[in-house]
Formats: sequence, structure tokens, C-alpha cells
Amino acid sequence: MSHPKPEKKSSEPKSFGWMAEYEDENKLLDAARKVRDSGYTRIDAFTPFPVHGIDEALGIKPTVLPWFTFCAGATGTLTALTMQWWMNAYDYPYIISGKPFASWPAFIPVTFELTVLFSAFMTLFAMLGLNGLPKLSNALFNNPRFDRATDDRFFLWVDSRDKYFNSDKVRNLLADTGAIEVDEVKEDDSSDIVPRKLVLAILTAIGATLIPGVIVLNMRNSKSSSPRWHVFFDMDYQPSKRPQSKTTLFVDGRSQRQPVQGTIARGDLDLADPYELGYDPDQLADSRSASTRLVSLNAQDGQETGSEQAGDAASEDGAMAAASEAELPWVQEFPEGVVSEEMFQLGKLKFEQNCSVCHGYSGYGDGLVSQRALNLAQGYWLQPTSLHDDRILEQPVGRIYYTIKNGKGKMGGYAASLNAEERWAVVLYVRALQRSQNASQADVPEGVDLELGAAE
Ligand code: HEC
Repeated sequence: MSHPKPEKKSSEPKSFGWMAEYEDENKLLDAARKVRDSGYTRIDAFTPFPVHGIDEALGIKPTVLPWFTFCAGATGTLTALTMQWWMNAYDYPYIISGKPFASWPAFIPVTFELTVLFSAFMTLFAMLGLNGLPKLSNALFNNPRFDRATDDRFFLWVDSRDKYFNSDKVRNLLADTGAIEVDEVKEDDSSDIVPRKLVLAILTAIGATLIPGVIVLNMRNSKSSSPRWHVFFDMDYQPSKRPQSKTTLFVDGRSQRQPVQGTIARGDLDLADPYELGYDPDQLADSRSASTRLVSLNAQDGQETGSEQAGDAASEDGAMAAASEAELPWVQEFPEGVVSEEMFQLGKLKFEQNCSVCHGYSGYGDGLVSQRALNLAQGYWLQPTSLHDDRILEQPVGRIYYTIKNGKGKMGGYAASLNAEERWAVVLYVRALQRSQNASQADVPEGVDLELGAAE
């Protein structure tokens, strides 16, 4: 180096203890045990590969790191649960998908994430802290022999900051352990001026990181007529084909594929099944085909706005549609297999998930969404029909099924979110709700008075 050596800070470089060098790991292990048994605690070993049993030989106690991790993890769990409970059940209670406000299973994903996040950060930082890292230099590096610690030699170091450290005693002890060399560890007394080459290298590296930014800036402020660079070709050029065109990709040469076997496109379902429709298309009194009938029904759904006004709709179309609706041969009895305890439970679940927000848990048309909408008083909200209206009580099951599937007036259909079985289950549950709100003495078990409750 061309730099003049700066004046020494003190005449003698400070000592950091003694280091001993061994030829193999067994000698190192024996030596470590001996030094440990002499009562020294600030000792460390340096080896080219992990040596089994070295922790125990050095007297290293199990780390407390797992406790930090555990506490941080527990804090994460508690934070996540409290946060979600506070948000969902306390600060802004709102039913989502029919779940309770405090739905612990729904809280699991966030809880898991926060637990992992907190413990991971704590583990990293506690590990750095416990190890006194980052440490840029170590006095041991001043001895050139120590370089072989990463190659083929084993080192033991007794730190001079040890409680019982006595320079001569430690030296003699180490010499006694079969070391091939025992050296004093001295403070680095070389120049602490950063070498010019290193400064240059760092500045060059910083400069290099600016290059991509400069390129982007340049691109954004210039124009070019040449095609752009394609870094990922498969994203820019996908093998798309026109329908009816040829391709070599498939054996049959057609670019247009057949639907996967067994799949039914939406709307392609067999329309002749009363279980699917809610009415029996074979019994249509009219000469018109079922499909024309469907068209007219849809048109009628568009016309009708208020629940009660359909009958006195002034337009001829509306009147005709209302008449044809009455004509539809509705399924009158529940189809086979619908009336069962399981279907009742399914219907309850699906009703509470899909319908209760508007129609209310008991079906009076007073669900939370409706209450909120009425509070906002914006005027265009139509209160959901009470399922206990005489009109709905009298409707055949097929008619209610049809409403669920296709919607009615302002209510959207549930064909996409409930399958036929689930729709029938909901009808069953609606019937049960209706009966529960209009029960007669004959509906309750003997010995129970409907008005007074259980008899004494
Ligand atoms: C977004 C709110 C909302 C949801 C959710 C909802 N409805 Fe409705 N429902 C309404 C409204 C509004 C009406 C009145 C529609 C009209 O007459 O224009 C209605 C009407 C009805 C009617 C009476 C139809 C008739 O013949 O007049 C029935 C039966 C019904 N709903 C059942 C259900 C069932 C079962 C579900 C769950 C699958 C459900 N609704 C989900 C808002 C809703």
C-alpha cells in the first residue's frame, strides 16, 4: 500500500486471549472438554465442517432462541384473533356468507400468517442480537495460520474477557492439550484507512445499480419504430386459432375442440325434467311449445316490479303473462327424496347463507341488508316479500322452486349458486318456516298448549 502507516494507538496491541491449533477434530474435542472442565466459559471453536458434540464439549447451553420465537408466535396469534374479532364482531358487525360475526374457522388463515410473520422476524432479529451480529471483523483473523480454519485445521480460542482468564495459565493449559501451535490473539493494529481500490469498487457497484433506471428513463422519453424486445416469448405469442381453421396440434386437425365429456354448458341442461323446472312441461295446456312459454315467462319477469301489482298491471302483456303464469302446471307435491331430515338441514344452511340477508332468518322480509337499505332511505329499495304472506303460503312448492331458480321481479335468480337439490332443500325449509309461524294446535305434540308452552 502506498499509504503511510498511521501512528500506533498504543505501543502494544491489545490481547484477546489465546488460540490453539489442532490437526483433527478428536484432538479438538478432547481439548475443548479439558478447557471446559477447567472452568473457562468464554471459549469458542472454529472448524472447517460441523463437528458433532462440539457444543457439549464447549459447555454451550441450549439456546433460548426458541422461547423468543414461541413468545412472538403467541403474540402473533393473539394479535390476529383480537384484530379480526374486533373488526368483524365488534367494530363493524356484518354477516358474510351466513357466518357468525365471530367465525373462528374463517379467522384461521390470517391467524396463521401473523403467527408465522411475527415468529420469523423475531427469530431472525433475536438470533442476530444473541450472536452479537453483524460483526465486521474478528481479532482471530489477524493470525495468518487461522486462515486454515476453513480448510483443514481446527482451532480453539479462550477469550481474555473470561472471568478466570490468566494469560500464562491459559497458555500452559492449551499447550498441554496436544495443540500443534499455541498463539496469542492480538488486536488488529494495521491501518484503518479504507483502501482506495475498495472505495472505487463500491462506487462502481453503486453506479452499476443506476444503469437499469437510466435505461428505463431513456426508453420512456424516446420514440422508436423498431419492434419491442420480447423477454418472455410464450406470453407475447400464444398459439391462438380461429374457429373452423386447421391445426397440426391435434390429431383430428381441428382447432375447435369438443366439450369435455360429461360437461354441461350453462343453459344446456335437459329442460324436460319437472325436478329441474319446478313445473311439468308435458302438461302445458297450451299448444305453444315449452320454449316459447319460457320466453314469455321471462318477459313477464321483466314486467312485474311490485309483488302485489302484477295482477293489475295495466299493460296487456303483463296481464297476459300473469295469466300464463297461473296456468303453468306447477309441481304440487315435493318430489321424492326431498322431505328428509338431511334435506331440511341442507335447506336451513342454504337459506341462512343465501336468503336470510334479505328475507330475514324467520322469513319476514326483514334481513340485515334490507334493514340497512331501508335506513339509507334511497327510495328504490323494494322490501323483500314476507314468506308468510297468504299469497306465498298458497303457492305450490314448484312455484317457490321456480322463484329461487329464476328470481322474481327485483329478486335475482339463484340458478348459479344453488343446484336443483339445494333449491328443493330451500323450498322445504321455507315450508317449515311458514309452518312454524302459522302453527296450529294440531302441529304440536300432545300435552303441549300452543299458547302456554309445555304443560305442567
Ligand atoms: C337481495 C335480496 C334478496 C335475496 C338474497 C333473496 N330475495 Fe327473495 N325476494 C327479494 C325481493 C326484493 C322480493 C320481491 C320481488 C318482487 O316482487 O319484485 C323477493 C321475493 C321472493 C319471493 C316471493 C316471490 C313471489 O312469488 O312474489 C320468494 C318466495 C322469495 N323471494 C324467496 C327467496 C329465497 C328462497 C331466497 C334464497 C334462495 C331469496 N328469496 C333470496 C329479495 C331477495
